[in-house]
Amino acid sequence: RVEMGLLLQRLDDLTIQKLIEVAREAQEKAYAPYSRYRVGAAIFTDCGKILAGANIENRSYGGTICAERTAISSMVMAGCTRVLAVVVVTPDNGFPCGICLQAISEFAPNAEECLIIAPNDENGVTIRTLAECAPYLWRSDIVQPK
Ligand code: THU
Repeated sequence: RVEMGLLLQRLDDLTIQKLIEVAREAQEKAYAPYSRYRVGAAIFTDCGKILAGANIENRSYGGTICAERTAISSMVMAGCTRVLAVVVVTPDNGFPCGICLQAISEFAPNAEECLIIAPNDENGVTIRTLAECAPYLWRSDIVQPK
């Protein structure tokens, strides 16, 4: 966890608190009439911007988009393509699903340096690297950006 210490120096407590606040505000905007499971996400980018997202469900369930991927859309539309950290707020302090981890990795080329953060049951936060959350993310030498 030595590298994690270095990463945390860059992402100070105040920034984490701000990210949680933004994710909670986003959670209130969730459109989740089917599951009633409201999720909010906040992404901290290398441009220093914070972009929010919430889950947006669809009556054709497969059309649902998770909060984390909504936040990624906001990030790209804001002109940023590098994720430093993602905070996710769910009703039961869950971490991002596998599809979202893959989507985040698209914009976090070094998974050891990207932080995934969720509140915990002790009024604090749990912090893991993207690499810890998904040690075997799919990447191919054949499918590369052109
Ligand atoms: N959901 C998210 O927004 N993020 C995740 O990482 C997992 C699940 C949403 C999708 C759906 O609207 C609801 O939670 C229940 O699955």
